[in-house]
Amino acid sequence: MTPSVSMKTQLGLRHGTDASRQWYARASAVLAGGVSSSARSSTTGDLPYPLYITRGDGSHIWDADGNEFIDYLLSYGSVILGHQDGGLTEAATAQLNAGTMFGTCNTLEVELAEQISHMVPGADLVRFSNSGSEAICGAIRAARGFTGRTKILKFEGHYHGWVDVLAVSNRPGEKEAGPLDHPISQPHSRGIPHGIVDDVLIAPWNHRDSVRQILDEHESELAAVILEPVVANNACTMPEAGFLEFLRDECTRRGVLLIYDEIVTGFRLARGGAAEYFGIRPDLIIWSKAIGGGFPVSAFAGRRDIMTPIAANTVKHGGTYNGNPFCAAVALAVLRKINQPGVLESIHRHGDELMDAIRKSARHHGVPCCVQGMGGMFQVVFTADGKPLRHYRDLLKTDARRYGIFRQALLERGVHINSSGSACWFVSAAHGCDDASGGADLSYTCAAIEEAMALCAAA
Ligand SMILES: Cc1ncc(COP(=O)(O)O)c(C=O)c1O
Repeated sequence: MTPSVSMKTQLGLRHGTDASRQWYARASAVLAGGVSSSARSSTTGDLPYPLYITRGDGSHIWDADGNEFIDYLLSYGSVILGHQDGGLTEAATAQLNAGTMFGTCNTLEVELAEQISHMVPGADLVRFSNSGSEAICGAIRAARGFTGRTKILKFEGHYHGWVDVLAVSNRPGEKEAGPLDHPISQPHSRGIPHGIVDDVLIAPWNHRDSVRQILDEHESELAAVILEPVVANNACTMPEAGFLEFLRDECTRRGVLLIYDEIVTGFRLARGGAAEYFGIRPDLIIWSKAIGGGFPVSAFAGRRDIMTPIAANTVKHGGTYNGNPFCAAVALAVLRKINQPGVLESIHRHGDELMDAIRKSARHHGVPCCVQGMGGMFQVVFTADGKPLRHYRDLLKTDARRYGIFRQALLERGVHINSSGSACWFVSAAHGCDDASGGADLSYTCAAIEEAMALCAAA
């Protein structure tokens, strides 16, 4: 496939990056580290400063220098309908004109909770928050309140937000992480108290024996096992066949709750998220990102009996902005669109095409790698044997230099993906659609992939 000529002359770093460089100098004087989130200081790739994105439309974004890119970062998967989706903009504008917040109950939060319960198996009772990290805190408190137990088992490398409660062993170095089958809990940052870290047990993903052993040792103290069903923060590492069933059975047998962090996978893998996609139902689920389509909305929900202490106010959960009508109106517009037949199917079809294109060009150029994930979210990992990752320790062995070359070559050609190989590509409903530039996105991206892979092979 060849890129369309008009797009070829239009996309990429054609106007230089001086404006972004200047904005970063200004930012560094007033924002700590020049950024608003620690993760963004590592999203710059080859440049010693980030690109300042000023506009998005459909599947495309523009930076402060006027460079245009096809966007596969999509605000880490949040912008699932594409930028400036018509229905979303209409809902937001109508609510702006009606008033954004009253600090009271509102009808839209009720409709939104009904929509979620309708779409997701097992979401009997819902609570709203504003960010993923906040909703994680709510769900963990619900699990501890219901079980009367304190400890949580999480998987090494899985990310559940920046707040203390689970900021443990997100990215440990191999040395301090301890043995593969019995990892040592490591705080993600200075400033996290020992007591918090001690309450978080760490297991390797896809490693049944190790999980069983930790569960045997700590069963009576464990409130929950939490996981990313597709590990978006480990380059879309998948659960091996039977692993989620295994966790479900072990948790049920021991009275330990199973929690899916569906902040990335929710309303993306399927209308009912991972619970529907894999057919294994957790006890509690957490959403953010896609649910708000680019606005700050999050939620957690679960079995009625587990959420009842929150309903009865014996387990507290609060927040000024929770379920506010502005964000609820937007989220409702997003979920109603995702629920329409064909929307997620088109996202997955286009994602599958891109995954195939990466595989084909890697084969063509003899570059060992594996493309893992599924349609709407995926990543290429440059593994020496071309095999998929099983767990976090495999991620540490991937060829980050090669990924950097691949990503930079794509950026120069106007294909915008995360600079970190441990993150993933996201596809929106605006990619590959017939209107505007969407129709040409895929063929253009496939051609850019081919060129980028050739550079990887030569490097
Ligand atoms: C799987 C997962 N859980 C939790 C979070 C935290 O969400 P937030 O950044 O909105 O607090 C993220 C953020 O990227 C995430 O990817």
